[in-house]
Amino acid sequence: MSEPTTSGSVTITLDGTNKSSSAPLVQASVGPAVADIRKLYADLGVFTFDPGFGMTAACESKITYIDGDQGILLYRGYPIEQLAERSDFVEVCHLLLHGELPTGPELKEFQHNITTHTMVHEQIRHFFQGFRRDAHPMAILCGVVGALSAFYHDSLDINDPRQREVAAFRLIAKIPTIAAMAYKYSIGQPFVYPRNDLSYAENFLYMLNAVPAEEYKVNPILARAMDRILVLHADHEQNASTSTVRLAGSTGANPYACIAAGIAALWGPAHGGANEAVLKMLGEIGSPENIPDFISKVKDKNSHVKLMGFGHRVYKNFDPRAKIMKETCHEVLAELGIKDEPLLDMAMEMERIALSDDYFVSRKLYPNVDFYSGIILKAMGIPTHMFTVLFAVARTVGWVSQWKEMIEDPAQRIGRPRQVYTGATTRDYKDVAARG
Ligand code: CMC
Repeated sequence: MSEPTTSGSVTITLDGTNKSSSAPLVQASVGPAVADIRKLYADLGVFTFDPGFGMTAACESKITYIDGDQGILLYRGYPIEQLAERSDFVEVCHLLLHGELPTGPELKEFQHNITTHTMVHEQIRHFFQGFRRDAHPMAILCGVVGALSAFYHDSLDINDPRQREVAAFRLIAKIPTIAAMAYKYSIGQPFVYPRNDLSYAENFLYMLNAVPAEEYKVNPILARAMDRILVLHADHEQNASTSTVRLAGSTGANPYACIAAGIAALWGPAHGGANEAVLKMLGEIGSPENIPDFISKVKDKNSHVKLMGFGHRVYKNFDPRAKIMKETCHEVLAELGIKDEPLLDMAMEMERIALSDDYFVSRKLYPNVDFYSGIILKAMGIPTHMFTVLFAVARTVGWVSQWKEMIEDPAQRIGRPRQVYTGATTRDYKDVAARG
């Protein structure tokens, strides 16, 4: 990546001294400029304090742009609404990874590269036996993806562009196979080998649902919905799991280890685990008449209860993915002939109450992508403990693209945040008998 353009600056003055530091303003192609404070310590002897990194740009990126106030999400400049409506997941993978939508021949070649990597090494099957049947599939996914580095030694050299490319294909192609294996293992069914004549989403549904005893036909409406879920979750700039992948990758760790780190970070209920948590929450509330009591609990800080599927670090107006997800939710329920889905009724009632309540309005808390995705997945027959796994399947391309961009960036350095130390100052060791 060439040096970013700077124009203008911010001057930071240390009060009570005549010292100041000029931070050049790095210009974004869209969105706010960022102040480059790399000389701050040398000039003033101070660092910056930004827990949660809410005000800190840790890298330059050309992949995804979010305008949280306007509810805009762009992949390489394309609005998410257009991609969800007119593109498909494999095209989006090409876009995120290579920067452009593929031409016809490029798409054919890319599809070929993905489909010829969908199988996993036969020995990986034995890995699953080591897990308890009731293991959470995210635990299995994390372990098995990390283990890929022990199987594919020919794609571990991060400095070789061809090896990086092969690692990217392998990760994008194999993650649905491993996710489906984790599911099949948890329900005691045989693993289903991938079928390369199916689309990415169709093949994933096939590996999740088919059994050797009978023919399984993929419902095209459900495959379309799955494809859309994958597109909507494919990337989301520097979120917690992506930043984890970048941080792990900044040490030179191999790509499979980095993606395993991303999976671990995604698992938390404040991040990818939220879709699972939404369903759990709706189940615990039980029926619409209990919603007001639940909302009161959410508003009581001492209860530590959150309205799962609401709020976002960046979106402070609406989450454009949630809007598309809500429409898809209705389409899926109609296709499946589900007229009265109590969970959906409850979700809509919850949304209505929350959006007219000052607590949520004043804090700019709106439904996020996970508020509706859980209901769609449940209607599709996917068990709750698989929800976050699906998110990981979709996000793998985002992680891989961000990892690749970072490795190819000459400005890349090992990630190493600072701290403000407020612990004990230097003191002398005392023998145990002398400690009071
Ligand atoms: N329910 C109740 N109150 C909330 C919620 C919520 N879901 N989210 C934020 N708040 C309150 C929070 O307590 C704080 O109140 P106050 O100002 O009185 O202290 C205020 O809103 C600001 O919140 P914050 O904690 O500063 O927001 P954040 O940007 O640090 O957190 C979040 C963002 C997503 C972690 C948080 O909104 C949350 O935990 N939401 C529920 C979990 C969820 O749905 N996560 C999925 C996010 S979308 C998928 C993804 O990208 O992973």
